[in-house]
Amino acid sequence: MTTPDPADRVLARASLAEGSPTAWFDQLYTAAARGEAEVPWTRGAPNSDLAAWITPGEGRRALVVGSALGDDAELLASRGWAVTAFDVAPTAVEAARARFPESTVDYVVADLLHPPADWHHAFDLVVEIINIQAMPRDFRPAAIASLAGFLAPGGTAVVSEVAEESTDAEHWEGPPWPFSRAEIESVAQDGVRLVSLETVREGTRYWATFTR
Ligand SMILES: C[S@@+](CC[C@H](N)C(=O)[O-])C[C@H]1O[C@@H](n2cnc3c(N)ncnc32)[C@H](O)[C@@H]1O
Repeated sequence: MTTPDPADRVLARASLAEGSPTAWFDQLYTAAARGEAEVPWTRGAPNSDLAAWITPGEGRRALVVGSALGDDAELLASRGWAVTAFDVAPTAVEAARARFPESTVDYVVADLLHPPADWHHAFDLVVEIINIQAMPRDFRPAAIASLAGFLAPGGTAVVSEVAEESTDAEHWEGPPWPFSRAEIESVAQDGVRLVSLETVREGTRYWATFTR
């Protein structure tokens, strides 16, 4: 007997077959809210690498990409950042607002592939953790261009994705689709430059920082 595929795989496959790189995220959060599926990336706590790295915001503006249920956004808000957090899945945004009713975070439904124009060069800190890797590679250049565009002069972007060099790339079945070093470095475009690039979690994830 074979084990059935988890709901995220089944939904992702159907969504991608229909040509949508993102529809399955809301379907998964909705199924999870009904107790019919698990969202594999939810931890109920902020990303530990981000928690170890973050510095006080002192009122500066931060943008959290793919904010899911809000844990990373709340971490930044608790460290004094004025946080906007967005996700393409309305159910995730609603859930984050419901989890943190007193929050100062501005939770927004938005698509990294079609972001609001007034986010251009608007954020002192941009946090991208394992979201772009969850979209098929065809969408990566557009997603990375949007990401780079959010960063204000003098700001910092942090980008963390699964490191292709730590995977068996030949037999890998996404999502996610891991990043090569060159792809991580490609965030350095349109006036953005790489500051640091290392691996964390025993070499399995890149942790890269950029500035403009
Ligand atoms: C793999 S999860 C990672 C969530 C969170 N960043 C973390 O570290 O746990 C990817 C998240 O990005 C969201 N997402 C995927 N594509 C997106 C897009 N094009 N624009 C905005 N959010 C997106 C999904 O709904 C999901 O919440």
